[in-house]
Amino acid sequence: MGSEEILMQTADEVAVCFECELYHSRKNAVAGEGPADAEIVFIGEGPGFHENEQGRPFVGAAGKFLEELLASIGLERSDVFITNIVKCRPPGNRDPLPEEISTCTNLYLERQIQAINPKVIVTLGRYSMELFLPKSKISSVHGQAFVVKGRVVVPMYHPAAALHQGSLRPVIERDFARIPELMSKPTEASDYRNEEVESDQDPKQLSLF
Ligand code: URA
Repeated sequence: MGSEEILMQTADEVAVCFECELYHSRKNAVAGEGPADAEIVFIGEGPGFHENEQGRPFVGAAGKFLEELLASIGLERSDVFITNIVKCRPPGNRDPLPEEISTCTNLYLERQIQAINPKVIVTLGRYSMELFLPKSKISSVHGQAFVVKGRVVVPMYHPAAALHQGSLRPVIERDFARIPELMSKPTEASDYRNEEVESDQDPKQLSLF
């Protein structure tokens, strides 16, 4: 099966998923969107109100800011794949629970990442970061590139955090500004991808920046 088909099948399954309690609070599941051959995947936390209404990721205020950040590095949202660690809106926008995260990522996010095989994964926010860098503090690692299980992962603050806390805005803008440099190093990234699987506890930091 090609990567586009895998993504479509995943989205079909997500739409009727009853594997965790979050199906109770969803109006529309949000599988994610973007090209099947995207070089960058952005992973947020979970759908909010607007995403739940529309069935699309990052379409509210945080999404508007994400689009501005992408534009600042010459990208449009249609150039990248955007998704979340959980595909259904947690009730009242609460944080997703560990079981919800593990169920959803094992069933869907893993498959999406395998299918797309991106050069770079950008995690948005703490929960998404913890999936790849469980022992890290976002305040220490944001904007740095790591190799985790053979993939280049760059943790960043969540755009919504920057909207709530103005001092984070220039920080996330600076972190985004590093993406083009990272994307222009395909050889290094793929060399690293062929290395031994890194343990989550001991991610290898790339020396690109
Ligand atoms: N915040 C997220 O983490 N994901 C979305 O899709 C929207 C807002």
